[in-house]
Amino acid sequence: MTRDPRYDVLFEPVKIGPVTAKNRFYQAPHCNGMGRTFPSSMAAMRGVKAEGGWAVISTEQIDIHPSSDITPATEGRLWSDSDLPYLARMCDAVHEHGALASIEPVHNGKIAANLYSREVPLFPTHMPVSMFNAPLQARAMDKADIRAYRRWHLDAVRRAKRAGFDIICCYAGHNLSLAGMFMLNRYNFRTDEYGGSLENRVRLFREIIEDTKDAVGDSMGVIVRFSVDELRGAEGLEADKEGRDIVEMLAELPDMWDVNIAEWDNDSMTSRFADEGYQEPFIDFVKKVTTKPVVAVGRYTTPDRMVAIVNKGIVDMIGAARPSIADPFLPRKIEEGRIEDIRECIGCNICAAWNNMSSPMRCTQNPTSGEEWRRGWHPERIAPRAVDGAVLVVGAGPAGLEAALAAGQRGHEVILAEARDELGGRVSLESRLPGLATWARVRDYRSYQISQMANIEVYKSSALSAAQILDYGIEHVAIATGARWRRDGYGRHHQFPISGTDAGNLLTPDDIMAGIRPAGDVLIYDDDHYYMGSVVAEQLVADGYRVTLATPHAMVASWTEFTLEQHRIQARLLELGVGIITCHLLRAITDSHVELACIYSGRRQQVEASALVMVVSRLPEDEIYQQLAADSDRLRDAGIKTLKRIGDCHGPATIAAAVYEGHRFARELGEEVSDISFARELSELATEFKLP
Ligand SMILES: Cc1cc2nc3c(=O)[nH]c(=O)nc-3n(C[C@H](O)[C@H](O)[C@H](O)COP(=O)(O)O)c2cc1C
Ligand code: SF4
Repeated sequence: MTRDPRYDVLFEPVKIGPVTAKNRFYQAPHCNGMGRTFPSSMAAMRGVKAEGGWAVISTEQIDIHPSSDITPATEGRLWSDSDLPYLARMCDAVHEHGALASIEPVHNGKIAANLYSREVPLFPTHMPVSMFNAPLQARAMDKADIRAYRRWHLDAVRRAKRAGFDIICCYAGHNLSLAGMFMLNRYNFRTDEYGGSLENRVRLFREIIEDTKDAVGDSMGVIVRFSVDELRGAEGLEADKEGRDIVEMLAELPDMWDVNIAEWDNDSMTSRFADEGYQEPFIDFVKKVTTKPVVAVGRYTTPDRMVAIVNKGIVDMIGAARPSIADPFLPRKIEEGRIEDIRECIGCNICAAWNNMSSPMRCTQNPTSGEEWRRGWHPERIAPRAVDGAVLVVGAGPAGLEAALAAGQRGHEVILAEARDELGGRVSLESRLPGLATWARVRDYRSYQISQMANIEVYKSSALSAAQILDYGIEHVAIATGARWRRDGYGRHHQFPISGTDAGNLLTPDDIMAGIRPAGDVLIYDDDHYYMGSVVAEQLVADGYRVTLATPHAMVASWTEFTLEQHRIQARLLELGVGIITCHLLRAITDSHVELACIYSGRRQQVEASALVMVVSRLPEDEIYQQLAADSDRLRDAGIKTLKRIGDCHGPATIAAAVYEGHRFARELGEEVSDISFARELSELATEFKLP
């Protein structure tokens, strides 16, 4: 296939000072839960993106000094020469494919609790640290501290050059960087030349950029990453006030501007709250006030939108973090005219969540993310089949679709049987709930790919029994029959029966998704803490119900703090008039009310509601698997060599986990897999340690 000429503009080179990006695709800095802790995994992940056509590959934020220690986060670190090897490895992986490597050194100021280093945190002013709300304070920096900070940054710049980086990104974004924190009125009460007027507050950042430029000369490009607006009105930076003034003041200093909005939860907004290009209204002034190239982000996955913002003169480069995680080969696919093959990010922020849990990043759309090194999984290549035999996949939800696709790609004949009259399973059902439409991309990408493959046959409306599966005698069987929400309330907080759960006025999210509606006012009981309780609430409000949401936790949808959207979810429910009761357990359900008890005092309260939606936990729909697994002789007689359950039917979890399980089934089919199915990064100790 050849590239659509409309997209030619995306493949023009862009000069970033002394270095040249081969096209307009810029992988914006993103942490990944691997960083310095799993350095080979991190380097391989970056290398795959370079192979996929991104012209610039950035690191995540790289902390530069023990006083900027954000342990236990698994970010990058550049404190001394001993940090160079892993960063050099990343540069090599990036250079191997002709891309430029960029590094984002940072001092985290009051964010850093310095749990490992035990240094006293630093800040423009005396201020409690933000990390974990730890009982620690940052102290106001004196002039010697400011000089030291400039030196640490410079040391990091010089080391980065030695590691092989082509670009330095001077960082004042997200309210995560000391130089950026100095700029903010609400933090900076200094009376010296670093406080007071805007010029004074920007002084430190200007010095950092100038120091960097002096140090690298013509050997490296210097980018500035700056958040022009914090979405907190007059209490923060605003794009039409100081945000713009700062860009004007520093306009010609960097070789390129990388502009976005702060804080991180605004910048990486989920698709439930923002569409592609959501940052444009904030950053579109930047190119008008500088002659330097500009890059911006906004979950860009569609080439037409990318071309539009280049042609409109809003940006010179397309910045992307999540789209590059979901599809590391996005640029190549556009270049090769394979638009339909792009695995578009769904904006769920599972990537951010795993990083925020200090674990290697996972991606809903890209099951190979984080597995490039430890399992050798490549997002676009898969080994030919290791065994003969056809594959039967029962259930076409996210696990089943991915299993069928990947097994087909390995060269197996595949039959995909789905009981319902549509593909997608939970993805199809959930994507009809408010705010989740983009999630349908999980289904659409896979069903399109499957439709292009002659060796995969799809049968809808085809519920199979265990007996039929035995009769067919297909060699390799994956059971992907999903899960159902429990009615009995058993879960994190309730391990004993709750009175009234057998009554007719109790529904689950499955009922709501099936179109069943209660009569009268509704109480949603959420002991799941992810999105489901809140989207069911939104749905029922839209349907005209009066809704209360009760949860044992102190906030609504508490786990969505990891996906950066908790406060937006709670705000939306409040705006919709949903009653919110936190820190309460469910005790009893009657025809007219629900009885709750405070988790601390045990004090009871009654909430008038004639129906309850129980959002607590799920049970695998694994009956077919259990029937088949129960009789190994019959399996053998039927010629079935492999029987696996995958996805929610194996262990109810995220859609990302289901896609991964489907992929893993296909990758491991016929392969020898040991108890630990991936390589671990214990190399340094392993080489030094002599076995007795
Ligand atoms: C998992 C994850 C980690 C991120 N880490 C960083 C980081 O270390 N430094 C940074 O400047 N931005 C970071 N970001 C923000 C991204 O660079 C980007 O600005 C934001 O995600 C919006 O772009 P997107 O819509 O293309 O994802 C991160 C984003 C994600 C999703
Ligand atoms: S996890 Fe979700 S938001 Fe993150 S890159 Fe993948 S699809 Fe996009």
